[in-house]
Amino acid sequence: MILKPTVLLLLLLQSISTITCLLHVQKNEIRTVDSLDGLWTFVREPHNGGDVGIVNQWNTLDLERFQNATVMPVPSAYNDLGTGSELRDHIGWVWYEKKEFVPLRDRNMRHVLRFGSVNYFAVVYINSEKVTSHIGGHLPFEVDISAQIKFGAENKFTVAVNNTLSWSTIPQGDFNYQSVAPRNISGRILSRLPAGAVKNVGNFDFFNYAGILRSVQLMKIPSVYIQNINIVADHTGSFFFETAVSSLDGVRVEVKMFDGEGSLVYTGNQTKSEGQISNPKLWWPRGMGKPDLYSLEVSLILDGELADIYREQFGFRTVTWSDSQIFINSKPFYCLGFGMHEDFEIIGRGFNQAIMTKDLNLLEWMGGNCYRTTHYPYSEERMFENDRRGIAVIVETPAVGLKGFSKANNNLHVKMLQDMIDRDKNHPSVIAWSLANEPQTMKKESRNYFKTLVDTAHGIDRTRPVTTVYGPTNFDNDQTADLMDFICVNRYYGWYIDMGYIPWINQSVYWDISLWRETFHKPIIVTEYGADSIPGLNQEPSVDFSEQYQNEVIQETHHAFDALVKDHTITGEMIWNFADFMTGMTTTRAVGNHKGVFTRSRQAKIAAYTLRNRYLKKGSNIDTTIWT
Ligand SMILES: *[C@@H]1O[C@H](CO)[C@@H](O)[C@H](O)[C@H]1NC(C)=O
Ligand SMILES: *[C@@H]1O[C@H](CO)[C@@H](O)[C@H](O)[C@H]1NC(C)=O
Ligand SMILES: *[C@@H]1O[C@H](CO)[C@@H](O)[C@H](O)[C@H]1NC(C)=O
Ligand SMILES: *[C@@H]1O[C@H](CO)[C@@H](O)[C@H](O)[C@H]1NC(C)=O
Ligand SMILES: *[C@@H]1O[C@H](CO)[C@@H](O)[C@H](O)[C@H]1NC(C)=O
Repeated sequence: MILKPTVLLLLLLQSISTITCLLHVQKNEIRTVDSLDGLWTFVREPHNGGDVGIVNQWNTLDLERFQNATVMPVPSAYNDLGTGSELRDHIGWVWYEKKEFVPLRDRNMRHVLRFGSVNYFAVVYINSEKVTSHIGGHLPFEVDISAQIKFGAENKFTVAVNNTLSWSTIPQGDFNYQSVAPRNISGRILSRLPAGAVKNVGNFDFFNYAGILRSVQLMKIPSVYIQNINIVADHTGSFFFETAVSSLDGVRVEVKMFDGEGSLVYTGNQTKSEGQISNPKLWWPRGMGKPDLYSLEVSLILDGELADIYREQFGFRTVTWSDSQIFINSKPFYCLGFGMHEDFEIIGRGFNQAIMTKDLNLLEWMGGNCYRTTHYPYSEERMFENDRRGIAVIVETPAVGLKGFSKANNNLHVKMLQDMIDRDKNHPSVIAWSLANEPQTMKKESRNYFKTLVDTAHGIDRTRPVTTVYGPTNFDNDQTADLMDFICVNRYYGWYIDMGYIPWINQSVYWDISLWRETFHKPIIVTEYGADSIPGLNQEPSVDFSEQYQNEVIQETHHAFDALVKDHTITGEMIWNFADFMTGMTTTRAVGNHKGVFTRSRQAKIAAYTLRNRYLKKGSNIDTTIWT
């Protein structure tokens, strides 16, 4: 079933979110912002230190005076900046502190402190006073600190960060925590581990990078202000918008819509309205057309003066789906994509403009048209780049490797999903929401858990399909796949299954994926396949971990994809992974995961050329070779 645009608009009208009210940072005629990025004072608690800083109220102290104080750049993960394994493998709290003057000049503005991402748990203090706490990385949070800030004076910003994961966090992790070493009645210690020993191991295959991973900004916002804007615009030119405003008392609202050339195409004076423009210039993914963008400018006028203004970028485009395909603007979309990571040497998962730019340039060079934000929402800067470049994105929550499905987990997962949708809802490049990666959804109790998530996503956003990425389950035991709008499957034939048997891959992938399709009658994207290769390790004939072996696994899996496309079974493919990335230590990883078609420093392996030839060839024929 494809939703007709008219049905769509009706659905949209009842589906507006005003959950967290978090706009992106913007500088304009009224709004301004000071960056708090840079070197912060840094103190680490002892490994698994039992909350010693919280208990001793380090927030009231000057961390700079601690004998063991050092500095830490923001944004960056802290793990790889030291010289010892203690910092890299640290479990528990670390403390950041920065002193900054806040000018008297801005005292009439609300001061809102905004964090792009702190992983995992953050407690924030201003001038020693606790102002907020936040659970979970990769999503922004903010707090109004106007009451705590001293104007025309130096202020102390303190952030305590805890990276301890457990079965009640998202993602989940098992830290082998041993509070008291077990003893027998003679008092003999029976454990090989010392008391308090913990391992920094999450239930996922990437390094648990921690710290202040994205920018910290002090936004200055007027007292009457725009809180949130939601825009829905489809390929027929129909649109709907709703603006949340702190107070409409005596306020006149002006709304203007501009096309990419800056021509005015609509004006209004309501906070909420629907409309229609003729001949909209559509947002298309790469290879299907240009990614045209529009902007909605909302102004608040108070006593004849401009009180606040905000410009939100969006695009006219429609995502629909049938029982076998995904469509963008009514044309079939075939994903030529990547699983990725925000990962690089030294900075870990810290945001860096140069790495982001290099990655997206390489993605374009490869002929890719989409990716999945494996396994957490990526930076806001990157979402704007996806819009501008025409890269379609499946945005994924941080719920990787879920094993337990408690009510508490479910509530936290729902909150993260809401915050993620709220952050990214106006990006035309976002074509779907992924609820989780490789959950243990063979368990019966996962069904209600996932039903809550699907209903939450549909309740906020009827315009995008919802999916989950399956790994440990099969077509005959998954308890949740029928709840999804489309299905994503990760499969590693020739690697985790049937290592060394390259000629078996085609049949195995073909039948596995065909059975998912026959069972659920939904569109399918194969979101992961591939093999590790140590850069420069060459073996002919191929041997596992050589570049040749990785290349052959990929080539052979492509044969299956070609057959599946012919049968109308899949609507996209994504390699695992774009580039090599760091993981925890296990016997299956040699200095991280080497399934990248690029090395960790972003140099091409043999497999990159195979994939590039395929993507360029398929992409240039996107309208003719992709079935309709
Ligand atoms: C750093 O110094 C503080 C204060 O003396 C101390 O409590 C803490 O344990 C030290 N951190 C480490 C990792 O030893
Ligand atoms: C923070 O880390 C400590 C280990 O140092 C742990 O015992 C505690 O439960 C954690 N607290 C939170 C709120 O995550
Ligand atoms: C406690 O363990 C030690 C070492 O294994 C053993 O020698 C001792 O007999 C044990 N005591 C009891 C009461 O089991
Ligand atoms: C809002 O716009 C409508 C249509 O242009 C106009 O009739 C109305 O007077 C305007 N209202 C205000 C309060 O400006
Ligand atoms: C791959 O398998 C499919 C399904 O059995 C078959 O139709 C196709 O010919 C095979 N492709 C190659 C290259 O062997």
